[in-house]
Amino acid sequence: MTSEPIDLLRQREQLREQVAWHQLRYHRDDDPDISDQEYDALVARLSAIDAALGPSLAADAGASPADRVGAPARRDLRTITHRVQMLSLQNITEQAELEAFDRRLAGLLPSDFLPPRYAVEPKIDGLALSIRYVEGRLVEAATRGDGAVGEDVTANVQTIAAIPAALEGIGWPAVLEVRGEVFMRRDDFLRINERHLQRGERIFANPRNAAAGSLRQLDPAITASRPLSFMAHGLGEWAASLPLPDTHSHAMHQLSRWGIPIVARRLESATIDQAWAFLAGLAQDRDGLDFEIDGAVIKLESLQAQKIAGHLSRAPRFAMAFKFPAQEVTTRLLAIEVQVGRTGALTPVARLEPVSVGGVLVSNATLHNPGEIARKDLREGDMVWVRRAGDVIPEVVGPVLSRRPTGLVPFAFPQRCPSCGGGVVQPPGEAVVRCPSRQSCSAQQREVVCHFVGRRAMDIDGLGEKMVDQLFEAGLVRRISDLYRLRFEDLIGLDRQGPKSVQNLMSAIEASREAPLSRFLFGLGIRHVGERTAQDLAQAFGSLDALMAAGLDGLLAAPDVGPVVSQAVFDFFRDPAEREEVMRLGQHLRLTNDQGPGRSYLRDGALPFSGQTVVLTGALPSLSRDDAANRVVRLGGKVTGSVSAKTSLVVAGEAAGSKLDRAMSLGIRVMTGEEFESLLRTHDDD
Ligand code: IVH
Repeated sequence: MTSEPIDLLRQREQLREQVAWHQLRYHRDDDPDISDQEYDALVARLSAIDAALGPSLAADAGASPADRVGAPARRDLRTITHRVQMLSLQNITEQAELEAFDRRLAGLLPSDFLPPRYAVEPKIDGLALSIRYVEGRLVEAATRGDGAVGEDVTANVQTIAAIPAALEGIGWPAVLEVRGEVFMRRDDFLRINERHLQRGERIFANPRNAAAGSLRQLDPAITASRPLSFMAHGLGEWAASLPLPDTHSHAMHQLSRWGIPIVARRLESATIDQAWAFLAGLAQDRDGLDFEIDGAVIKLESLQAQKIAGHLSRAPRFAMAFKFPAQEVTTRLLAIEVQVGRTGALTPVARLEPVSVGGVLVSNATLHNPGEIARKDLREGDMVWVRRAGDVIPEVVGPVLSRRPTGLVPFAFPQRCPSCGGGVVQPPGEAVVRCPSRQSCSAQQREVVCHFVGRRAMDIDGLGEKMVDQLFEAGLVRRISDLYRLRFEDLIGLDRQGPKSVQNLMSAIEASREAPLSRFLFGLGIRHVGERTAQDLAQAFGSLDALMAAGLDGLLAAPDVGPVVSQAVFDFFRDPAEREEVMRLGQHLRLTNDQGPGRSYLRDGALPFSGQTVVLTGALPSLSRDDAANRVVRLGGKVTGSVSAKTSLVVAGEAAGSKLDRAMSLGIRVMTGEEFESLLRTHDDD
């Protein structure tokens, strides 16, 4: 015997142990500590070794966990033996594999079933459930377990509103077993995790674990308190004199008429090419669904053809799971860095070992604020769950405690500003910690300068972030007013700056000396003063002097200026350092009144949201989110889902959450739902 098989034998032993352990964590404990992708890779390696060892050495191949479906039932739950086995599905990820599946079936089926027709449905990321109706009444419900024996969850299932206790309509068979998926919708999942975090209870890595953990409970009252959903995707036993429906899709529509929910987004009686197109479209729209899917299931449409195709030990030959990239994965939290933003907010950022999430490489994620790190107990060096689902911003869900290296210490949030070393403040009731020394903090000033020169503010060409960094590093600029003291000979010495580009930059700075007051006000980066508010202030006060001299009452009396903005503007101009800087700037600039000739940039301002990127969050008083978004678009704006530095306005309806926090920390203009709707009313004809 060569050493190779011995090596393989040892590897196989190890892999078997690992796979079996992870199966238990996933199926029995609803608490996996590796991602689906990592698990699939382990199983693939194990199967490859099983195959490589051939028949003699793989004599006990049947014992391989790679051939197993799920895990045995929890011992403390009663068990139910399935009358019809509950199988798993084979996974594929490539179009070529889908075509091979089609060719295989074409070779297997009699000519009257050719070419094969398919039904395609989303693969709901939940847990399989079999529900037994006798004479139209729900009598039993069981999880899949190991495929042969599942757990009795009848009492729990009776608390799920989506599952009828009695079938509606007429014509059901005497015994009907419905197979489907119990799952949790995205918003329900977020709400549950939020609730658990607040109570210091375990948080779920994803909706699937939340659903499984909620269903497999000894106490049905716990299940009842969790928002579970259900959709059918197949049949188990069908005992009746009446024949089975002829196709899968007909069976699903029949179930739907009897009151059982089925997946709405489905493709019926399709060719393999149509199936592929549907799959591709589904992958694209995945984030738009209100529940999570981990792929699509393609199955033979004809139930008779399904029977002819038959099944292998753990999966049918008539169906395949086409898997999409995983939306939650584990990776290492290398470090937590704290960045200082333009408004002084200290934002912790997770530096992650780069990892692909939902098909996108992720190496950073915001951790929002110190409270969030403490609640999740994230520690530098932890293995963490990272999710990117339904939203473009990746999120660190929490640590994988079972994989936490020893010796990690809780994260200590800095007590001093990491940039200027000054003390930080956390106003009571606010989640965000701030560095209050705006003028003397170089991290903030860098952001302030970037904002000031930006396209929507003073629009100084050639002054991108890189150039601003160079100016700061060379010590040429420490605050905005320094820009107007730059000389040709200062700049020509900088890296990669030739005479031509320096001249262009000098001209651009020069050109910015004459600017509309509103752009200047916006450029100052006063908290809560976005573009529109800056325009309102410029119009109401007409000059910088008048605005600086205004008292709180005067500000409050200005049209469209609310109390939050008034206070922020008032505070800004009462701060000696800010005042001094504004005076210095005043010496360099000639600000034009917005109502005068400098007003030209307002031409497209006829529409209230022209050029603005708007984020809607929370519930609006009367409009639905879709209607509100349509109105914003009709009024010149763009609507996006997440708040970033590019956002111009956040409309915060009732129960607005993290997006509002983020808007506040970025100093983005915020409007209440009422303000927003009343603004829309003034444009009702638009
Ligand atoms: S058909 C023989 N259709 O995925 C099993 N399954 O990984 C036929 N699943 O055990 C299953 N959505 O729990 C089917 N639309 C769908 C599905 C679906 C989710 C689950 C099901 C199955 C598992 C296989």
